[in-house]
Formats: sequence, structure tokens, C-alpha cells
Amino acid sequence: MKLQEHLAGHEPELRDLVLKIGESGKKIHRGFASRQSVSNTQNVYGETQMALDKWADQVLIDDLRASGLVRHLASEEQPDVLEFEGAKADYGITQDPLDGSSLIGVNLAVGTIIGIFKGSVLVPGREMVGAMYILYGPLTTLTYCLRKGVHEFVLDDNGDYVLQKENIRIPDGKIFAPGALRKNYLFGHMKWIEALEAEGYKIRFSGSFVADVHQILHKGGVFTYPGYVGKEGGKLRLLFEGNPMGFIVEQAGGATSDGRMSLLDIEPDGVAHRVPIYVGGKKEIDLIHKFNSEV
Ligand code: F6P
Ligand code: MN
Repeated sequence: MKLQEHLAGHEPELRDLVLKIGESGKKIHRGFASRQSVSNTQNVYGETQMALDKWADQVLIDDLRASGLVRHLASEEQPDVLEFEGAKADYGITQDPLDGSSLIGVNLAVGTIIGIFKGSVLVPGREMVGAMYILYGPLTTLTYCLRKGVHEFVLDDNGDYVLQKENIRIPDGKIFAPGALRKNYLFGHMKWIEALEAEGYKIRFSGSFVADVHQILHKGGVFTYPGYVGKEGGKLRLLFEGNPMGFIVEQAGGATSDGRMSLLDIEPDGVAHRVPIYVGGKKEIDLIHKFNSEV
């Protein structure tokens, strides 16, 4: 089944929005080979931008502006929320155009992460109407959730997104993807990591958040980029990374946390809000809450 048919039961504007983003994803998928250089700029977080980061950002901005469906757009590569005057619908989008882009030079999987809101994007993630990500690996896949299950499509040789897996549920699994340096772990986090290791969890951390969470969604376990000594507020971004991927994992039966509460209940203090991130199975998230409540 093609993506368009699968979206048939949804409101037409929302369906068109997911399809438009899918089309932007196809353009990004085709753009990798010719845009491998590093640009001479940094984003607002001080990260070196790749030519592809900036180009993918512009592809999405141009396509979403032209769609007439989006009024507010926040991007990891932009300092402020963009406003599109005259849009016929009132959707708000958060976009990380190319997450994991430090891996472009070594040809590992990267992806586009999207959050979809009705109206403003500066509200808790719990208010999202949907989220999706496009993963550019050996296959290009599109995973979407509009509050009716999590579904995955693969881009086929004809350029169509074709259903690969419907109603994905996160299984039990024993892998973990732990970001940051062990020497800087905070006390509760260290105890939690030791407990996972004692249970036989294996490390799988690529440096691409979207790819690592995708793996956890399919194999179980937990991703974390915690707060740590010197950066207690964490590294990853609530709006662009934590919320959309967290929304998908929660809808697939998993859980999220900043170490104490669901990411989706956090009130953002601005577009650049960073947060400690835990995304994965309920039992792993319950366990970090237990260790953090003891400190
Ligand atoms: O977007 C930030 C990001 O590249 C994530 O995709 C990834 O999980 C993380 O940073 C990797 O950070 P580090 O290089 O500190 O391991
Ligand atoms: Mn990112």
C-alpha cells in the first residue's frame, strides 16, 4: 500500500502536509552525493553546519511555505520561528532537517525529524497532532504517526513510499544508546547505567539520534543523552529532537523522560530549549525515575 492510500482516513490538509514532507524527503534523498562539503557557518547551538544541513533546511522551508498549509515553522537551523503570512491552514512545524549530519562524511544513516502542531509550536509536545521522520540509510524510510498508530514506509525504485510495517510497537530489548562521557555522568544516571549493564544491555550508539532511536523503536531498549556535569540541562533539543521522536515512541507503547517526567509534558522556554533525553521502553524509563528519586 502506498503512503497516500494509507493516509486516506485523515483530514485532507493533514494528509497533504505529510505527503508534502514526504516529497521534500525524496529531494533530500537525491541530494546527498553532490553536497558533501562543510559550510563555513555554525548554527545557533555552535555546531558546524554541513552544506547539506543548510540545503535540506531550505528545501523544507520552501516546500512548506509553498504548500500554504503551514503558518509557523521552527527549524533547528534557524534562530527564530518563521511565520508564513496568508497560509490557508494553521499548522505549526518543527524540523530538524538533517539530524546526525556529523556522520555525512562517513556515510552513516542520518534523518529528517518533523513535529506537527495545530497552531503554535511553543507548547508542550503532548499537544502535537503528529510527528514523522525520514531516515536515509541503505533504504530511505518514512515513519509517521498521526495519533493512530506508528507506520513505516520504504521508498521504492519507482519513487513511491510503500508500506513496510504497520502499527509498530516497541518490543522488549537489551540495547542501550548512551550519549555523553561516562566521567561526567550525574549520580542517578550512573547508577541506572550500571543497572542496565548488570542486566546485560549492549551499547549501540552511532552519533545519529534519529537512527539510534529508530533502532530502539524496532529492537527495544533505551536511548539517552543525559544531563551531565557542566551541562546539566542536556545537549539535545526538546522541540526538534526529543518531542517528535518521543511522541512516536510513546505512541508505539514506549516512554520518554528528562530523568524525572515525560518530555512531552515539558513547557518549552523557547525554540532553543535543550533537555536531558531518555527515550525507549517503559521499564527502562521507570528505572531512571527510581534512581533519580533516590538522589
Ligand atoms: O543533533 C545532535 C546529535 O548529532 C545527535 O544526532 C546525536 O545523538 C548527538 O548529537 C551526538 O552527540 P555526540 O557527538 O556528543 O556524541
Ligand atoms: Mn539534530
